[in-house]
Amino acid sequence: MSKERKIKKWELKDYARTIFWFIFHTVIFILGFMAILYVNANFDLKILGAYLKIEGTVKNLIYLVIAMLLVSLGIYLYFYHENNAFIKESKNINLVFIILEVCIAIMFIVGKYMVMVYARPFALCALLSLLLIEKRTAIFMNTVSCFLMFMIDAFLAINPMEGHMLYSSLLIGFSTSILAIYLVAGISSRLKVFLMGFLISLPIILCTVCLEFSALLTNPVPLIIAGFTSGMLSVVLMMAILPLLEKIFSRVTVYKLYELTDHKAPLLQRLNKEAPGTFNHCLVVSTLAESCASAIGEDPLLARACAYYHDIGKIVHPEYFTENQSGYNPHNEITPELSVDIIRSHATDGAKIIKDYKLPTILSDVAEQHHGTLHIRYFYMQASKFSEETLPLKDFAYKGPRPQTKIAAILMLADACEAKVRSLPMRSHEKVDEAVREIIEERMDFDQFFECDITMRDLDVIRKTLTNSLAGVHHDRVEYPKLKIGGNKYE
Ligand SMILES: [Fe+2]
Ligand SMILES: [Fe+2]
Repeated sequence: MSKERKIKKWELKDYARTIFWFIFHTVIFILGFMAILYVNANFDLKILGAYLKIEGTVKNLIYLVIAMLLVSLGIYLYFYHENNAFIKESKNINLVFIILEVCIAIMFIVGKYMVMVYARPFALCALLSLLLIEKRTAIFMNTVSCFLMFMIDAFLAINPMEGHMLYSSLLIGFSTSILAIYLVAGISSRLKVFLMGFLISLPIILCTVCLEFSALLTNPVPLIIAGFTSGMLSVVLMMAILPLLEKIFSRVTVYKLYELTDHKAPLLQRLNKEAPGTFNHCLVVSTLAESCASAIGEDPLLARACAYYHDIGKIVHPEYFTENQSGYNPHNEITPELSVDIIRSHATDGAKIIKDYKLPTILSDVAEQHHGTLHIRYFYMQASKFSEETLPLKDFAYKGPRPQTKIAAILMLADACEAKVRSLPMRSHEKVDEAVREIIEERMDFDQFFECDITMRDLDVIRKTLTNSLAGVHHDRVEYPKLKIGGNKYE
């Protein structure tokens, strides 16, 4: 998942739009509270009417509405200060609230109709937020969901809960969900996540046992079953809901990234078959991009996926790209202008192919942006030989846009450095460093990093990383001494 934590200036319309969506979902929550009250009255308006007549009930419901408004305000302030680039997009606000709404609804239904409130999937909200947004937000979202569940249990139960059940969401939810976040973070296999359900169950059982110590002495089995149900339900429901939200909100989860970077992925298989040279180039670029992303605190797995697909557009005319040629060069038979058209179209073709395959937009964005608005120098110089006038550079340039994210900037640099270093006759550390510096400076001279928030410090770290990786990958071959045994020579 990309790091989107940055404070960007908002225009008035951004405030208006985000506030609208927050008010909209606050109203949904309040309507949801009414529905819960109706369900708790066993769908009987007479019971509901009698409950509302009890002294203090209406006052409590007003408190609940005020508390909900404050919770929404808290969510708004959290995201505005922690990650305002994220909630600037309406779909992300909807994602945040839909996670909360779905998890609260499921917890309520399980608590009402299953054996015990302790069987609620307390860790569901934390796990969905972790995989669809990020770890820090998951901790915050878990706090909100536990608090909302407590509000529902405290204010909307027509028959008040027995004993400590009322505090279960606060105690179990807070303690076990944080553990769940740290257990599941970074796990790429769905099977391992499933197995984590058992581990998540253990603290739930422990909390349940502490809350209901007297029941433990008489009949502990229902408590243990409820604890296991809670842990396993959290994981199973998460795995069922995740692909849906992933698709609806175009979020790229760690599972999706592993799927995309599997060499058996349909589009990668096509690239390997139709443009094997490009496929190998993408593999080398992916290693470089991954190292650069780790070095500057971006997501290395996302960088790897973007690298795999950045040149996918070359499958349209693979033979026009050096890495797929073996002797014959079709550019020798066409004009430089036509060559430029074919070469630069690989960026836009790539974006189109990725969209046609319905892959995440981050991949098509990077494919389109990885050459920015740079010109193709070789063909510009070829064309200039046949022209008496100075040709406009833009006619020989990629259409852009320039990199919009740090990941796209990393790809631009890793891609260019890999090609340049490959063409160097001498690949000593100094020569590689010189080549990498040249690539970065040239792109800065042509304003390629103006539209993304990459810093000079990031560029310096990327330079060192690329130099170290490329000097390591393309080191000069050591001349092995020839071995002579008897009359035979071995090399
Ligand atoms: Fe490219
Ligand atoms: Fe490339």
